Amino acid sequence: MNHKPRIGVINGGGDCPGLNTVIDSLVKTLYPEYEVFGFYKGYEGLLEKNYFHLLPEYTNRFKFQGGTMLKSVNHGHFPGKIGGGELNLIDKSILAKTKENYDEMGLEAIVVLGGDGTMSVALQLQEMGLNMVGVPKSIDNDLYGTDYTFGFQTAVEIATEALDRLETTGYSHDRVMILELMGRNAGWISLNAGIAGGANMILIPEIPFTYDQLLKYIQARVEKGKHNALIVVAEGAISVGGEKILSDIGGQSSEQNLSGIGSNIARFLNSQNIDARSTILGHIQRGGSPNSFDRILSRQYGAFAGNMIKDKKYAQVVTYNCHDFTSMTLDECVSQLKLVDPESSIVKLARQMGISFGETGEIYF
Ligand code: F6P
Repeated sequence: MNHKPRIGVINGGGDCPGLNTVIDSLVKTLYPEYEVFGFYKGYEGLLEKNYFHLLPEYTNRFKFQGGTMLKSVNHGHFPGKIGGGELNLIDKSILAKTKENYDEMGLEAIVVLGGDGTMSVALQLQEMGLNMVGVPKSIDNDLYGTDYTFGFQTAVEIATEALDRLETTGYSHDRVMILELMGRNAGWISLNAGIAGGANMILIPEIPFTYDQLLKYIQARVEKGKHNALIVVAEGAISVGGEKILSDIGGQSSEQNLSGIGSNIARFLNSQNIDARSTILGHIQRGGSPNSFDRILSRQYGAFAGNMIKDKKYAQVVTYNCHDFTSMTLDECVSQLKLVDPESSIVKLARQMGISFGETGEIYF
């Protein structure tokens, strides 16, 4: 080898505030002993050898910008998970071509920033002989084994501000205001924003609700003279016996987008003569710059991944738990999702504050 050790950087799946911060931090940690190459549009960039040299003077420019300087896709040749989140085996010839390019470029390792789908592809590439280091990324915060993924707190902050705004207009018009938030499988954004934004009801995938209970709750408020209410609903929330509501807008994601549960609830309430409006916050939660918490967290994730490269600690994913950084195996990371435990202290806290989860048998005060 007559060049410096070469490292690739890939981000996969949906973008997220903090991606650029992690990349800049990683590049600065590895500079100047390593050459770092950024691959465009996730693993597709490695498959097509579509990359560029990442230098600190370039990445520094983007360090607190939203989105990703590498661009990203959540479709293409590498759908790591499909349907309800089942692992998907990537075509052997695609994996082989990727390995060929990796060898040809003389890469020593790849740092991959992504969610469970992206990590499940990283695991398959690791098994093919590529050295992979993962950095957990998801605004949904549903990656197993880590307290906080970067981007999550920013999303919660944006959603909380939206709730504050919906509250004043809802109060003025005696309306039920519904805010639909991201969260395909996990209700972390809804739970946290709901508590912070003073929601009266939080509906999440982990706790199926009933329309009957929802109505009873709103009627109980009306009887007490409260004619407005704030409901937060995760896009993946389900009613008992119901199914997730798929978006009717197409798209190219490897998983069909979810959207519409908030409108369903508004329609139901309107049919019961309760004035209700629904807002979908959507990608506003994902766009824009990371907040200060996520900037610092992303900085740390990137530097820790860089140090793992220096220590040749491969087949691992960085984890952040109880303010401490360490790592776990890729295998473990993709073994399950981190879902909200209905018996956890934060859910109990919400209940104690009088927040409803729309479950049958809840008692309101
Ligand atoms: O996984 C993160 C997420 O924000 C989900 O909550 C949401 O379902 C999905 O991304 C939407 O992604 P896209 O619109 O990019 O396909």
